[in-house]
Amino acid sequence: MKRITLINGDGIGPEISDAVVKIIDASGLKIDWDVQTAGADVILKEGTPLPERVLNSVKENGVALKAPVTTPIGKGFRSVNVQLRKELDLYANLRPCKNLPNVKTKFDNVDVVVVRENTEDLYAGIERQVDNDTAESIKVITRKASERICKFAFDYAVKNNRKEVCVVTKANIMKLSDGLFLDCFRKIAENYPQINKREILVDNLCMQLVQNPSQFDILVLPNLYGDIVSDLCAGLIGGLGVAQGANIGLNYAVFEPVHGSAPDIKGQNKANPTALLLSAIEMLRYIGENTYAEKIEKALFKTLDSGICTADLGGKAATSEFTEAVIREL
Ligand code: NAI
Repeated sequence: MKRITLINGDGIGPEISDAVVKIIDASGLKIDWDVQTAGADVILKEGTPLPERVLNSVKENGVALKAPVTTPIGKGFRSVNVQLRKELDLYANLRPCKNLPNVKTKFDNVDVVVVRENTEDLYAGIERQVDNDTAESIKVITRKASERICKFAFDYAVKNNRKEVCVVTKANIMKLSDGLFLDCFRKIAENYPQINKREILVDNLCMQLVQNPSQFDILVLPNLYGDIVSDLCAGLIGGLGVAQGANIGLNYAVFEPVHGSAPDIKGQNKANPTALLLSAIEMLRYIGENTYAEKIEKALFKTLDSGICTADLGGKAATSEFTEAVIREL
């Protein structure tokens, strides 16, 4: 039986984790969940929102499913998410964005995968106050990080039968930093003659995405553009309740929804478990459980197609009712 770390988070985290565990269980797939608490609720008892035991569990199991955790503001704690990505060197942020049945959006043909570099760029945190009126932030782009993220995007394309990888930069202005990212893309692309290549500037990409998103297949971007564009793409498919994600490195992978811990609806049986469920389905594909991934995905799509959905999507179903409906379809 595969052992997987389950970080059940806080806020709506425990409710949606519960729902997803029940659904996977009902599919017939047996998983030995190694449940690890993290986040705001753990600070009082253990002095940190991300105790060592959580990291050790992911290192042992290799794979984790993670519900959202609250990041305490201004108390001197680093975000659990940022820390996890750093400690486990999860260099690739993967966000597949595809329309779901019956989830009404402006476009009905979106199927784009955003691959965001997760470790450097303006997020390296190298900033300085030059004087009272001037601050500087350094944008770091390295060959190592750029090549490995571009390779990740092409490998994902091959593995998932995708046709094209499009690199997104502002290399016309930032000739050295974004220029290096673009050079790395071109070099790595040579090893994948079967995949189409495309290059686009980030401003043009944003305009194209909100006019004609179906022209894009896989996008690969440095950290900052990736952060912004992946939220734009989440908006194209129906927003936070349905946006899945994953952070993947050479040795470990953490699958998690894009949304946060939604304290405003905590404990009210209102949260949409779809984003976490889609993240779990991608996780099952990652560990090679494709048959169960397809089976659960089909049940989810049938449920949505039948008009059953939670309030964030305009429906009336409680978290528990939606979960029961997916289980019935299984
Ligand atoms: P949020 O994503 O938690 O909530 C924004 C809005 O979307 C709220 O109105 C919420 O009710 C709604 N929403 C989010 N997920 C939903 C779901 N599954 N079903 C139905 N409605 C949903 O963002 P917010 O309020 O900015 O952040 C709350 C906390 O979450 C903060 O402490 C933040 O740091 C943390 N956070 C954690 C993340 C993670 O663990 N990966 C990611 C983003 C935020």
